[in-house]
Amino acid sequence: MSQVTVPDLLEARRSIRAFRPDTVDRTLLDALVEAACLAPAPHHSRPWRWVIVDTDDAKRALGHGMGQRWREDLRGDGSDDDRIDELVTASSERLSSAPALILGCLTWDGLDRYPDAARQRAEWGMALLSLGAAVENLMLAATDAGLASCWVAAPIFCPETARDALELPAEWLPHALVLVGHPDPDYTPRERPPIPLDDLRRFA
Ligand SMILES: Cc1cc2nc3c(=O)[nH]c(=O)nc-3n(C[C@H](O)[C@H](O)[C@H](O)COP(=O)(O)O)c2cc1C
Repeated sequence: MSQVTVPDLLEARRSIRAFRPDTVDRTLLDALVEAACLAPAPHHSRPWRWVIVDTDDAKRALGHGMGQRWREDLRGDGSDDDRIDELVTASSERLSSAPALILGCLTWDGLDRYPDAARQRAEWGMALLSLGAAVENLMLAATDAGLASCWVAAPIFCPETARDALELPAEWLPHALVLVGHPDPDYTPRERPPIPLDDLRRFA
């Protein structure tokens, strides 16, 4: 175990969007998933499933599937074709450039079911919150291991499309994607803005 303190580790984790081409050992990727699974979750459940996408074919399939769906959404928004091509190509290249992608999925397994929509939504919201905690664990573990990571929003906009692109079970719904790899030493994260505590919190 490293000698880094928790506050140091929290500070050290940054979104790194450029990687060296070297692969990441699967044992190490498994250790990141294990760290994710230590996160708190409702009712002692673990409503998460994890897909490690580290083959070129699977990365391409995921990028292509989500890209097609984004293309349709952008057309619906009225974006012009050149801009759509530019955005979708850049997004797909970013996925391919990462040595590994870890896809966090949600499942109803272990969650409570309610007869009304409002409580069902709240239950799913709890699961989503817990997925966020799990992803933060995963990224902190990556930082601790000297790996770079970046959370990518795409699958939350098209969970079924991402699921089908990878031929996952019907009940695994992708909601979070994390790029993982060895950091490109030339990449500098954006400067972190200061935390305006007095604007963000109050005592009650
Ligand atoms: C839910 C979520 C979605 C995100 N989606 C993206 C994304 O699609 N692309 C990206 O480059 N960064 C994405 N990020 C990373 C944020 O841009 C980043 O966390 C933020 O700018 C703070 O920088 P830091 O992570 O280096 O502290 C996402 C972060 C979160 C929590």
